[in-house]
Amino acid sequence: MSKMLLLLVLLSLLSPAAEALDNGLALKPTMGWLHWERFMCNTDCDTDPDNCISERLYMQMADMMVKDGWKEAGYEYVCIDDCWPSHQRDAQGRLQADPKRFPGGIKKLADYVHSKGLKLGIYADVGDKTCAGYPGSLGYYETDAQTFADWDVDLLKFDGCNLKWTLIGDGYIKMSNALNKTGRSILYSCEWPLYEWDFQKPNYTAIRETCNHWRNFADVFDSWDSIKSILDWTASHQDIIVPSAGPGGWNDPDMLVIGNFGLSHDQQESQMALWAIMAAPLLMSNDLRDICPRSKKLLQNRQIIEISQDPLGKQGYRSAKGNSFEVWERPLSKNRLAVAVLNLQEIGGPRGFAISGIPGWKICDPQCNVTLILPQYKEMGVQTKDSKLILKVNPSGTALMTVTPISHNFGKLYWKHTN
Ligand SMILES: *[C@@H]1O[C@H](CO)[C@@H](O)[C@H](O)[C@H]1NC(C)=O
Ligand SMILES: *[C@@H]1O[C@H](CO)[C@@H](O)[C@H](O)[C@H]1NC(C)=O
Ligand SMILES: *[C@@H]1O[C@H](CO)[C@@H](O)[C@H](O)[C@H]1NC(C)=O
Repeated sequence: MSKMLLLLVLLSLLSPAAEALDNGLALKPTMGWLHWERFMCNTDCDTDPDNCISERLYMQMADMMVKDGWKEAGYEYVCIDDCWPSHQRDAQGRLQADPKRFPGGIKKLADYVHSKGLKLGIYADVGDKTCAGYPGSLGYYETDAQTFADWDVDLLKFDGCNLKWTLIGDGYIKMSNALNKTGRSILYSCEWPLYEWDFQKPNYTAIRETCNHWRNFADVFDSWDSIKSILDWTASHQDIIVPSAGPGGWNDPDMLVIGNFGLSHDQQESQMALWAIMAAPLLMSNDLRDICPRSKKLLQNRQIIEISQDPLGKQGYRSAKGNSFEVWERPLSKNRLAVAVLNLQEIGGPRGFAISGIPGWKICDPQCNVTLILPQYKEMGVQTKDSKLILKVNPSGTALMTVTPISHNFGKLYWKHTN
């Protein structure tokens, strides 16, 4: 190891990212399924029984997750979003599931999901109502945390609607403490910064101490415009948000919409690649009972998931932009680098991008080994800093690769001794 590298390693050991919430969870970005983008607040089980928010939906998704290889690929949490509760709390002031749509109750649903080797997520809100108008947790933080723990829930998505912004941080911290007090490890997914950005710069040190991941920006939609707006927001705030990500706490750019209606296959590849580069939670919102094989293969792509779950736990960032291309890079364990080259030109055909134009390409001095992952797996072999390789990238598609430096320390030492 060079002296410079040693110094960098020592420095990074001495000054780790701010303390993460200490509940032992989310040491890698969370993987699972979340109902919102695809199923929203559909409570009409009479005319739409297959798609309404009901215990049946989550049981079927859990079944599919086991049966179709999702669990094996790493997807673990089956998550309920808004619109699950009854409009009234029970006589003891506790939240209760809508009795018609969840006749077995949440505890039984959790048992079912656990019996499949999966975990169950639930949803609540820091304010006095959820975003869709169901009972909020304001004034009930400890009661609700205890209720979720009693039901053996494994994850809480805590939304930020219907509370004055100045009280948001305090509310999120109180719920975090209430969850801790239950003694059950419950992964805590927050929207604290999203509800603060309009008014002030959020305190990411405090957020990382409080939450396992946090939404920063608007809800994802099933459209390329939405994906682009999330990438733009992330890149333009990366100096603030990237350092706050690491094992135990992650920036959350919202759900994967791969396998739905709005994205071309190239755009789906771009979302998958960039979510891996951003060390984002991989929470799919789609219908696992009816998903196109190509989308399924992409979501289960082992090499992309390895980038997402890389043990170094560093979030990537946009490193260059120009000529309607963007280059994003993520440092990986063993000194490797993941690189995504995104073609933002939405006219014409595939365009060429010279690989030596990648800012991090200096790791190829003297040599590196390049493995292309998207648009198709291909071992590109040993390259140098002067590599003449040209990547072909489709409109709104992404080329994704890993780059492994090949060091020649031994050769250099030998050279010195013989001179
Ligand atoms: C509660 O917090 C303490 C101190 O941060 C931590 O050691 C403990 O593991 C936490 N317990 C749970 C259930 O999260
Ligand atoms: C941010 O939060 C941290 C941890 O809670 C605190 O120590 C620090 O003073 C806060 N910073 C600002 C600018 O409020
Ligand atoms: C380059 O990477 C590929 C894929 O990981 C591997 O099979 C191959 O042995 C590597 N080549 C070198 C020279 O390291």
